Amino acid sequence: MRKRFHILTFGCQMNANDSAWLARALTDRGHVPSSREEADVHILNTCSVRAKPEDKVYTELGRISLLAQKSPERKILACVGGCVAQQCGERLFARSRELRLLFGTDGLAAAPEAIDLLLSDPQRKITLLDFNETFAEQGHKLKAAATGPAALVSIMRGCDNFCAYCIVPLVRGRQKSRGSEDILAECRALIAGGAREITLLGQNVNSFGQDSLGDGSSFSTLLYRVAELPGLARLRFMTSHPKDMAPALVQAFAQIPLLAPRLHLPLQSGSDRVLRAMGRGYTRAEYIALVCALRQARPDIHISTDIIVGFPGENEQDFEDTLDAMQEADFCASFSFVYSDRPGTKAATMPDKIPPALALERLSRLQVWQNHNSARILEAMRGQSAHVLLEGPSLKNPASSWSGREAHDFAVNLYIPPAHGATTGDMLKVRITGSGKPTLKGELAE
Ligand code: SAH
Ligand code: SF4
Ligand code: F3S
Repeated sequence: MRKRFHILTFGCQMNANDSAWLARALTDRGHVPSSREEADVHILNTCSVRAKPEDKVYTELGRISLLAQKSPERKILACVGGCVAQQCGERLFARSRELRLLFGTDGLAAAPEAIDLLLSDPQRKITLLDFNETFAEQGHKLKAAATGPAALVSIMRGCDNFCAYCIVPLVRGRQKSRGSEDILAECRALIAGGAREITLLGQNVNSFGQDSLGDGSSFSTLLYRVAELPGLARLRFMTSHPKDMAPALVQAFAQIPLLAPRLHLPLQSGSDRVLRAMGRGYTRAEYIALVCALRQARPDIHISTDIIVGFPGENEQDFEDTLDAMQEADFCASFSFVYSDRPGTKAATMPDKIPPALALERLSRLQVWQNHNSARILEAMRGQSAHVLLEGPSLKNPASSWSGREAHDFAVNLYIPPAHGATTGDMLKVRITGSGKPTLKGELAE
């Protein structure tokens, strides 16, 4: 039964990658992607890392029910996957008549078949929320999938760190590494399908292999092996936990030329007191020493971060320490969030919650600093040469205007004369001519 489907994705890149896999798997089964309005099968791939994620899901389920009421003959099916499904479980079914499938991340591999079962049996509901002991391989059953020039590859699932504020270990389960050979096989298939850049993904890639499913390969060993694959032009990874950043991984930045000079390294707070309460396992001085070692290994590296403001008990001095540390680390970008209580976490039970108005005020001070610093870093790139991976022609002027990304992962818009014959996936040498917000401008270097 050929159906139109639409996937709405919230949350991290792991979720984005899961959604991309699900789309390929459903397409393999004969279904077709469509707009939200036209879809018969609606999939919400959800995130519960910050406040009110359930509300977003209810809003979307409400919208889907309206569509179903407007055209009952379409027999609309709704599915909720990801972290909210895992967190809320079967009580979500009560929210919507159309909702008949719940799947967590470990249930993803079985979701396409479940969707087909539900399409042929309108009375049925399916729940795929158990955590597995194994890493369910999803890739091998797919036909060679067309891919863009930049591809994502999940190398692990879950997390063992239990940072005091974080719900991820509760909704994604314990850390499970994927086998190196399976990862390499997926990378080869993606390169054969047109990928030039690969980003290896996990909640904490630095501890890859250090769990019961590990096959003896450390993350840096894996990185060297992926970097050797013929046809690959650029390699990235995320996310790294500072406490697990092995010296061998720092050295990889000096030794692997196609490893991009950009690292996302969440600091969370610059106050040792808050870092301890968060259970992060490093001090501010250790973090800064790591940044220095990285800059020594790769002088042109740009480092970005995540920051939580308003963690329980955070005082003005703690916050000032965070601003100081950000300055010292010279972040090119930061994703900053007001702390939010998540059910089942250690921080949710901590006293001294920060009033929202105060936390928001701190957040905006931090963001003012970051915007200023990001603009300064972008501006300093004017006149420099860069290698840009072409991601596609721009929508406005497809004949000669292209967008791509340079090594630090900044977007670049560039004019390329049609006679040049540029195609998506080309890696071109470019001169940066300007820094708009937030993209750079460039022109072909002679
Ligand atoms: N595994 C990654 C990312 C986890 S979630 C890591 O360890 O870095 C992404 C970011 O969301 C976190 O880095 C953190 O800054 C933020 N975050 C997580 N839980 C949060 C909470 N309860 N309140 C506010 N921000 C949170
Ligand atoms: Fe959450 Fe910490 Fe694990 Fe990151 S390392 S996913 S912040 S528990
Ligand atoms: Fe969100 Fe789950 Fe990712 S909570 S950040 S989608 S691991």
